[in-house]
Amino acid sequence: MKKRVTKAIFPVAGLGTRFLPATKSIPKEIMTLVDRPLIQYAIDEARAAGIKEFIFVTSRGKSALEDYFDHSPELESQLRKKGKKDLLETLKSTNMDSGAIAYIRQHKALGLGHAVWCARRLLSNEPFAVILPDDVIAAETPCLQQMVEAYSEIGGNMVAAMEVPDNKTHAYGILDVKEDMGSVVSVKGMVEKPAAGTAPSNLAVIGRYILSPQVMVNLNRIKTGAGGELQLTDAIAQEIAAHDNVYGFRFRGQRFDCGSKAGFLQATVAFGMARDDLREEFTDFLADLMSVPNAAQ
Ligand code: G1P
Repeated sequence: MKKRVTKAIFPVAGLGTRFLPATKSIPKEIMTLVDRPLIQYAIDEARAAGIKEFIFVTSRGKSALEDYFDHSPELESQLRKKGKKDLLETLKSTNMDSGAIAYIRQHKALGLGHAVWCARRLLSNEPFAVILPDDVIAAETPCLQQMVEAYSEIGGNMVAAMEVPDNKTHAYGILDVKEDMGSVVSVKGMVEKPAAGTAPSNLAVIGRYILSPQVMVNLNRIKTGAGGELQLTDAIAQEIAAHDNVYGFRFRGQRFDCGSKAGFLQATVAFGMARDDLREEFTDFLADLMSVPNAAQ
């Protein structure tokens, strides 16, 4: 029987330089889409997929993240006194059970593979998920839950995948497809950030993974890869030769690249319009904005 996936690693050590000056004093993962920080979307998705233990790989300057998931007794008692039940309920989703959350520091920015490896001692011989909070995925069934369902059928190592245009393949891990079975593809190769014109396909890895413990072992010995960093892609690719058990999963949903300004803005608009309490006012505003030149230009 395949082991259940109950632990997820969230690599959140990045400096977020693309969002300076905002990220000078707040972690990128605390930046909000409407009224929830990016990290909350990732946590909600993990919970929906049955994850019980949350491992954050952080770095200096990320203490706001730890506070965010802590209880806030003063705020809670104020809200209780004022009878603000809705807000108390909202706060509940930010609280973690004692012992359910762990923070590990990545002391040097040596790449995604290294960040994941930093969590090795918190895992035993079990499969684990990795969620990159920059990739926000709006979906009826949350993306990781879709993957857990597919994983329970085929096991192995599974990465979320999505087609990207030719001029974007250089920014992703790209899959070399062996067999295309529709939502699942088997993989005969993986390349991290291939140079323009050399990508084996247009199928890109998106930031959701379910990985076998063997990938953690591989991370012990991978060499520096693309961009001079230790790449998770390379450690997963080793499993193709060793066990031929790497799969891409085309998820159902819309992915936003919240690591880029354009993607973050797109997500803000999409999530704003999806909210019952904002839709009407926001849609009217957008319609006006499209029809007349605006003062912000
Ligand atoms: C990381 C991974 C890459 C993947 C991407 C998805 O790259 O290394 O394989 O395609 O996330 O967002 P990064 O965006 O951190 O450079």
